[in-house]
Amino acid sequence: MKSGKYNRRKFLSTAAASAAGGVFVNSTAPFSAVQGRTNSLLSSSENKSEYLFAENLTYLNTGTIGPCRRETVRESMKMWEELESFPVKSYGGWGAESLAEKTRTVAARFLGCDLSEMLITSSTTNGMNAVAQGVRLKAGDRILITDQEHGGGLSCWKYYAKYYGAVIDTVAVPNGENDAGAVLDRIKKAFTEKTRLISVSHVFSSNGLRMPIAEISALARSKGILCIVDGAQAAGAIKVNVKELGCHAYATSGHKWLMGPKGTGLLYLSKDAQDVIRPMQFDESYNTYNNGNGVVNLACILGLAKAIEYLESVGISKVEEHNLSLRNRLYEKLKDIKSIKIVSPQPGQPLVSPMLACVLPDEVDRVAFVKMLFEKHKLSIRATHKEFGFNGIRFCTHIFNTGKEVDFAAGVLRKELA
Ligand SMILES: Cc1ncc(COP(=O)(O)O)c(C=O)c1O
Repeated sequence: MKSGKYNRRKFLSTAAASAAGGVFVNSTAPFSAVQGRTNSLLSSSENKSEYLFAENLTYLNTGTIGPCRRETVRESMKMWEELESFPVKSYGGWGAESLAEKTRTVAARFLGCDLSEMLITSSTTNGMNAVAQGVRLKAGDRILITDQEHGGGLSCWKYYAKYYGAVIDTVAVPNGENDAGAVLDRIKKAFTEKTRLISVSHVFSSNGLRMPIAEISALARSKGILCIVDGAQAAGAIKVNVKELGCHAYATSGHKWLMGPKGTGLLYLSKDAQDVIRPMQFDESYNTYNNGNGVVNLACILGLAKAIEYLESVGISKVEEHNLSLRNRLYEKLKDIKSIKIVSPQPGQPLVSPMLACVLPDEVDRVAFVKMLFEKHKLSIRATHKEFGFNGIRFCTHIFNTGKEVDFAAGVLRKELA
C-alpha cells in the first residue's frame, strides 16, 4: 500500500487485523450462518431460498466465479450419489454416455447451434486450449489478438508462439475506446498476409467492453481466416447466439455467468470450421464420452444442464436486461465520485455489458482495497489483473443481484474513498 490521501487509517487497521489472523482470510468467520436468497428477478412470484450465499454477503463478482443455485447443487449431488452407488457407471458403458449428451443438447439450444457443433469442456481455458491445439499452427503463422485478452484465452497462443514459431500480433484497444467502428478499424489495420486467425474476447474481463463480434467475424470470414471467441464473460450474462455472431469457435465457462458447477465449460465449433479445427480430445467424436477425452465429471456436467435450463426458464433477454439495468444504476451512482474514473462504456452505448470497471487513485492498492471491502463490508468484487495496466476494480451484476445491493456497493465505495 502506498501512502497518500486514500491510504487511510481505517482501511489499514482492517488490513492489519486480517493479516494478524483476526478477520477472515482462511475461514468463513465473518459469516455467522448460511442463508438463502430469493432471486431478485423472481422475487414477486417465488418466495423460496434459491442460493446458498453466506449471510449479508454482497456478491458482485460473478465474472470471477458464479454461484450455483440450490437446485443445481441438488441435481449434481443426486447424480453423484447415484453414480457412486455403482462407481463403474461414471466410467461408461452403463448409460453415462447418453446422460452426458443431455448437457450438450441443452447447451446447443441455449447458444443457438446444432448439437453436432457443441462440446463439453472443463473451462473456457480448456476450450481455448482445445481450439489452439486443433488448429495445428505452423512456424510463421500469425495470430491476431487484442491487448485486453485474459490469460485463459491467451496462454494457448503463447504456447504456439513459444514452441512452434507462430507469431502473435496484438491490437491495442485502450480504455475509453467504446466505439465499434473504431475498434474494427484497429483490427482491420492489424491483419497481415500470414494472419490465420483472430482470437478475441466477447466481453473484456478488464473493463467489460462488449466487442462487436458479429462484425469481427464477418471481417475474418471475408479474409478467409478463423474467428475464435473467448466467451467467458458473456454466456449467461448477455444473450449469446453463436450463429448470429458468425464466429468459428466460441469457448465459455459453466462456472461463471451460467451459474453451473465449477470445472465445467462449453465449446462451440461451427460446422464449416470442423475440418480445420480438430482438437485431439474430440477427434474421434464430439461426444463427451469418447476415447480421446477420458472419464469426465458427469455429476457436475449434468448440474450445468440444470443451471442453463433455469436461465432458459427466465429468458436470457430478461436476464440481460436486468443485469444491464443494475450495472447502469451502479454507473450512475459511481460516476460523480471524484477520486475514481469509470473505464467502462456509459449506459446506452451499444458495447456495454454487465461488468463495470473503474480506476482507483494511484495511491490505493487495488488488491488490498478489494480485500478490505470484503473483510469490512462483506462486499465481494474483483481487482483487475495487473496485465491490463490500470489500477482497477470490477463489479459484476447478475440475476440474483438487487438494486439495494448496487446502492450498498456504491455507498461503501464513496465512504471508503472519501
Ligand atoms: C475473458 C476470460 N477468459 C478466460 C477466463 C478463464 O476462465 P476459466 O477459468 O473458465 O478457464 C476468464 C476468467 O476470468 C476470463 O475473464
